[in-house]
Amino acid sequence: MTPRLLVRDLAQLATPAEREVPLRGAALGEIELLEDAYVLCSGDMIEAVGRMRDLPSVAGEVVEVDGRGLCAVPGLVDCHTHAAFGGDRVDEFSLRAGGAGYEELHARGGGILSTVRATRAAGEDGLRAAVERHRGWMLGHGTTTFESKSGYGLDRETELNSLRAIRAAGGVPTWLGAHAVPPELDGDADSYLDFALGDVLPEAAQLAEAADVFLERGAFDVAQARRYLEACRDAGLALRLHGDQFTEQGAIPLAIELGARSVDHLEATGEGGVRALAASDVAGVLLPASALFLGRPMPPGRALVDAGAAVALATDFNPGSAFCESLPLVCSLAATQLKLSPSEALGACTVNAAHVLGRADRLGRIAPGYRADLVLLDAPDWRYLAYHLGGHIVARVVSAGELR
Ligand code: NIG
Ligand code: FE
Repeated sequence: MTPRLLVRDLAQLATPAEREVPLRGAALGEIELLEDAYVLCSGDMIEAVGRMRDLPSVAGEVVEVDGRGLCAVPGLVDCHTHAAFGGDRVDEFSLRAGGAGYEELHARGGGILSTVRATRAAGEDGLRAAVERHRGWMLGHGTTTFESKSGYGLDRETELNSLRAIRAAGGVPTWLGAHAVPPELDGDADSYLDFALGDVLPEAAQLAEAADVFLERGAFDVAQARRYLEACRDAGLALRLHGDQFTEQGAIPLAIELGARSVDHLEATGEGGVRALAASDVAGVLLPASALFLGRPMPPGRALVDAGAAVALATDFNPGSAFCESLPLVCSLAATQLKLSPSEALGACTVNAAHVLGRADRLGRIAPGYRADLVLLDAPDWRYLAYHLGGHIVARVVSAGELR
């Protein structure tokens, strides 16, 4: 039997309070705070949490972790990444730094399509190695659960290899079969969807948990997105959308109509969209690192939370629009740019992100019965998670009861 793990003498332990999921409005910022705390893990589960003075005597073999000077928060959940890619976009990044536009580079066959070429060239082993490497980067920043999309293959073999690589690295796979129209189809989105839904979906539906589409000018329009998502829903996949990144093209109404889990980005969402999303069961996933990386307007985070929307935060880690795997940095951006409190940011990248992945019953809180995923912060106050901008904040990570 694996020995139990006792994290003891923590300066603070902060966890989102037990409230109806997803957390909305004031509940998003409700935190339970314990000072001088312990967490006892048994196997991959949390067995007990409390104040040191209430620590019962623990019999049997126990590995102890000295938490003095550290604060514990739940293992972070990154519910939106694109970790399955080959190559990089550092040349494009340099061009953008000199003023070139992201959409313009995409329209000229660069952008996403340049990563499609590199990802196809990486082959199955190269892709597995890449996702594994990216997973390690994320873990180093406290991410104990990551979702990743495919979407840089856009042919049968590379899309399926991407989903397999994500699963092999322990990620939650999403089939982003409708990310862009591949170069061989020369902009013919309808013919591409014929192929993707006819030849790739049957097997993708066995490997992925959800499907995603990039609904935007220059990518897929509302009719094409509806066709793709309806077919994916009929094949048993949960639905996600990249929507309102540059322009409002009807992503929110479509997501509500189809009962999607989330609409992600929302940088261009106006007041009507905020109200509609807040009145629905669809979560809004905010990706402020992407807005920052592209020099774009931030999504209306404060307005969404105040209106009662279910808001999650994620990195959007990818080589083009957000080469950033750090959820702590995203929490800093949520506080400084989106005007969310550190408590709201924590709820948004733990419980609400787990909700977007359909796992809020076991991920996102430090409480008995939840998976033993913890981030030990090198900080005297857990709010350094958002306060320490770009800091080396993660001291240790416990993932499924294992010290990493
Ligand atoms: O979420 N917007 C669409 N897809 C990704 C970026 C992909 C890329 O630039 O490679 C995103 O930002
Ligand atoms: Fe994305």
